[in-house]
Amino acid sequence: MQYTQRPDLYDLLHPEDFMPGEREFYLSLAREAGGPVLELAYGTGRVGLHLARNGIEVVGLDLSSSMLGRARQVLAQEPAEVSRRVTLVEASMADFDLGRRFGLVYVPFRAFLHLRTQAEQRSCLKRVAAHLTDVGRFAGNFFQPNPLLLPSYSTVRVDGTTATGDGGRVVQSHWCPRSDLVEQSKLVMMRLERFDATGQLVESGVHDLELTWIYGREWKLLLEVEGFELERLEGGFQGQPVHDGNEYVWVAKRREA
Ligand SMILES: C[S@@+](CC[C@H](N)C(=O)[O-])C[C@H]1O[C@@H](n2cnc3c(N)ncnc32)[C@H](O)[C@@H]1O
Repeated sequence: MQYTQRPDLYDLLHPEDFMPGEREFYLSLAREAGGPVLELAYGTGRVGLHLARNGIEVVGLDLSSSMLGRARQVLAQEPAEVSRRVTLVEASMADFDLGRRFGLVYVPFRAFLHLRTQAEQRSCLKRVAAHLTDVGRFAGNFFQPNPLLLPSYSTVRVDGTTATGDGGRVVQSHWCPRSDLVEQSKLVMMRLERFDATGQLVESGVHDLELTWIYGREWKLLLEVEGFELERLEGGFQGQPVHDGNEYVWVAKRREA
């Protein structure tokens, strides 16, 4: 089962501040953009909702109807002036046409790595370029591939325990049955076991996640080939140099702009 089919567990395991500094980084760019923004791979709204709560109009695009269904439930609990700032669109970030342009298009939390092939990656960059205003920016983040962590491994690694809020807990562990070091893709399997307040196992499932990692030099080339100019490529959300971080955080704009 793909992890996106259990958006309730996704939300439990990825609280709003899951990546420190991430939401503030995109909020600051959105404020500079000064108008509606487009989030690619919106998910359940972990980042976009933060922007909407701070007065930004957000279009949230995602491929998964389950994630968007949960996003709608989350929005329904917000005050009307917040929920009406968010428009949800079900589409692939590699193939969308919203017929409008934005001062900021951003793709947080490594979601660009869900695009499997260079054709998909380049198609996404073309669609982003077509949705940016002349001065619009394209921003995002994904992890810096660590050669020590890329090979497959069959030993189960326990990630930890998360409280469910009703006295119960979810224990998360993972392994990586397939990693293709040539095609730069890996499959990660996650076992989630939910226990109730009495310690009884009430649910157990295996969720999977496929991703294609991207190296920094490759990313610079992809952006350049698709007509973007890098404004910033940093190692984290606090502006640290790439060599001092483990995340790539970038801001780019269209070269012809
Ligand atoms: C790691 S989640 C990130 C969600 C949210 N942005 C966050 O920060 O919590 C990745 C999201 O990418 C979505 N996704 C995967 N492939 C996609 C595609 N081709 N187009 C749009 N969304 C996609 C998934 O459905 C999922 O909601």
